[in-house]
Amino acid sequence: MTYAIIGSGAIGTALATQFARNDVDVLVANSRGPASLAEFVGALGKNIKAASVQEAVKADLVILAVPFGSVPETVRDAPAWNGRIVVDATNAIDFPGFTPKDLGGRLSTDVVAGLVAGARVVKAFNTLPAAVLASDPAKDGGHRVVFLSGNDAAATAEVATLAEKLGFSGLDLGKLADGRLAQFGGPLMVHNLIKHG
Ligand SMILES: NC(=O)c1ccc[n+]([C@@H]2O[C@H](COP(=O)([O-])OP(=O)(O)OC[C@H]3O[C@@H](n4cnc5c(N)ncnc54)[C@H](OP(=O)(O)O)[C@@H]3O)[C@@H](O)[C@H]2O)c1
Repeated sequence: MTYAIIGSGAIGTALATQFARNDVDVLVANSRGPASLAEFVGALGKNIKAASVQEAVKADLVILAVPFGSVPETVRDAPAWNGRIVVDATNAIDFPGFTPKDLGGRLSTDVVAGLVAGARVVKAFNTLPAAVLASDPAKDGGHRVVFLSGNDAAATAEVATLAEKLGFSGLDLGKLADGRLAQFGGPLMVHNLIKHG
């Protein structure tokens, strides 16, 4: 299983930090190209490799850690997804009000799924603020919770396995529609839920 993160900002950095901490290889891409990631890669170590977006979208599991509005451009040139997994870590936010974007009642992940036809989309890693996502998920004798939702149970299980590899505890909410509570503005945008045992 090959992994890629697209986005090297707050969330991309937080996730890459967890990949590095747990010795899991991952490609990281951003809008400015691999050369701009030299310092990033140098700071995080051998598991983190800079890539172009074109390379990153070929991974078996691609994490979108870009602004919601940048998703169309990010995935525009992706090859056929053929069931590969896209993890949607984005939140659809209107700035500067920091309010949920009006999508006419559609879930933001549904919009993302429409842009990556043929991919198995899992919503995850979108509820924790970047600083919390970057911190050690082993906490108070338990593991920090990452909420998951997706329409393909095997893909959700694969992302849960990744979350666990990174030290989190995955909590499967069910189908994408069931994950509404963990979309931006929902009550599961919690910062510090820890699962024990
Ligand atoms: N910050 C949080 O606490 C938080 C928490 C949960 C979820 N989220 C969500 O996570 C996503 C990322 O947030 P963030 O705070 O990490 O944002 P950020 O710090 O602004 O970073 C955004 C990253 O996306 C990259 N990017 C933008 N357009 C791109 C494109 N067309 N192709 C490739 N890369 C592109 C940027 O590349 P460059 O570096 O080249 O500009 C940058 O690395 C957002 O959807 C946000 O709502 C954020």
